[in-house]
Amino acid sequence: MLHAPVVGPRPKKRSKPEEAGVSRRQEAKFKDVRIFLVERKMGRSRRSFLTQLARSKGFIVEDALSDTVTHVVSEDSQSSSLWAWLKGRSLTDLSAVKVLDVSWFTDSMREGRPVPVETKHLIQDILPEAPKPAPVNKVSQYACQRRTTTENNNRIFTDAFEVLAEHYEFNDLQGRCLAFRRAASVLKSLPWAVRCVEATQDLPCLGEHTTAIMKEILQHGRSFEVEKILSDERCRTLKLFTSVFGVGPKTAEKWHRRGLRSFSDVLAEPGIQLNRMQQSGFLHYGDISRAVSRAEARAVGNIIDEAVHVITPNAILALTGGFRRGKEFGHDVDFIVTTAELGKEKSLLINIIDILKKQGLLLFSDYQASTFDISKLPSHRFEAMDHFAKCFLILRLEASLVEGGLQRAEGDSRDWRAVRVDLVSPPVDRYAYTLLGWTGSRMFERDLRRFARMERQMLLDNHALYDKTKKEFLTATTEKDIFDHLGLEYIEPWQRNA
Ligand code: UTP
Ligand code: MN
Repeated sequence: MLHAPVVGPRPKKRSKPEEAGVSRRQEAKFKDVRIFLVERKMGRSRRSFLTQLARSKGFIVEDALSDTVTHVVSEDSQSSSLWAWLKGRSLTDLSAVKVLDVSWFTDSMREGRPVPVETKHLIQDILPEAPKPAPVNKVSQYACQRRTTTENNNRIFTDAFEVLAEHYEFNDLQGRCLAFRRAASVLKSLPWAVRCVEATQDLPCLGEHTTAIMKEILQHGRSFEVEKILSDERCRTLKLFTSVFGVGPKTAEKWHRRGLRSFSDVLAEPGIQLNRMQQSGFLHYGDISRAVSRAEARAVGNIIDEAVHVITPNAILALTGGFRRGKEFGHDVDFIVTTAELGKEKSLLINIIDILKKQGLLLFSDYQASTFDISKLPSHRFEAMDHFAKCFLILRLEASLVEGGLQRAEGDSRDWRAVRVDLVSPPVDRYAYTLLGWTGSRMFERDLRRFARMERQMLLDNHALYDKTKKEFLTATTEKDIFDHLGLEYIEPWQRNA
């Protein structure tokens, strides 16, 4: 066979390119066109036939694919496999070669000359898909768009930030306080531990100051700025005083300015009038400053559940707050109690308090009647307290009711402890909003409202969601409805530990 097709290694002995593969019967006419016919799909015999045909018409047809080839002709319509094969041939510059459908070849044979290459002749390389940008899981600046479990991988930083936040709060620098709380919240959401500050450069809510603190901690294992605050007498005293139930930053500040430094100072000070809440706060200080366990929260739940069902069979009771978010310990236990009959919730808390009192379980109760008025909605105040009926209680919890026993201080042999309990009682049609509002965390709630306002022109609080554009309230029977109204992915309660 004349000019057996060779695909692959260059024959050792080669004639000069000008002479290569030219039929002896015909002088090469078109010197700048050097054809290579691809055998794949075409088949050996057809390739041989076409080679002879072309050469007889004065075309140069190369036996091997080399850098001298200008026109590659193929019957392979699968451009991807053809190009993959071509790319494996180690040609110096594949872009200099025209890769053509056999139609160019047959047109040229018919015309007796190489016809100009048109788009229809080209077998184009399917460009590899534009490389997708690496999925940068951008962390949202809104806590309600982050999933934050109770597992905190960056506690060394977030504990430090909390000290600073509190310090600024005591000094009435709310902006700085919020900046540190926001930064802490972002770090809490990370599924990884920060090992160098460079790793945090794409994260939102981290500024110069927060980064400097992180650097300090990474370098020295602690922050000197934080330690200075922790050892600061005023800060320590304010923290001590505000740890008493019923004592806020203002009262603490007032006591400090009077020169009071300890509980005994306060209790011995003649001019000081403690309100009822503060008196109970001091009386039960040891118990209520000690964390409440999940088992204790469950036992409290049983007590409330029993009381509510004495009052109405249509009761609805839900654990909210930190325990609903999956926390193992809390500073109190929060519940929503209501009834399926709208309006019946009005007397519910009063009746529950009554029952608890009769059972001898009520150590303290501060009841606030409802001031809820739908016509006054929505509240424009940020983080405003809600207007539902609620009560702040201190309950006596018997050890026998708690699976695994009580959280007890060392040396404490009592068979009971005091526990802080909050109950809120919204009308049942406000249930979803109340549940979302009381589940927290505070940072999650704050950002839900901020997101609603800034991104959706909506106002959200514990009572309702108002669409300012449509000028209407949006109804919701579940938390999911509210997330849907806001166009947010649903975040499970246990992912709201922002
Ligand atoms: P908590 O202060 O009880 O916090 O308020 P928590 O998340 O349960 O954490 P610990 O473990 O007790 O410390 C629970 C949620 O209830 C809301 C708060 O905003 C918080 O998100 N809340 C509380 C109200 O909306 N109104 C209130 O009057 C009280
Ligand atoms: Mn709570």
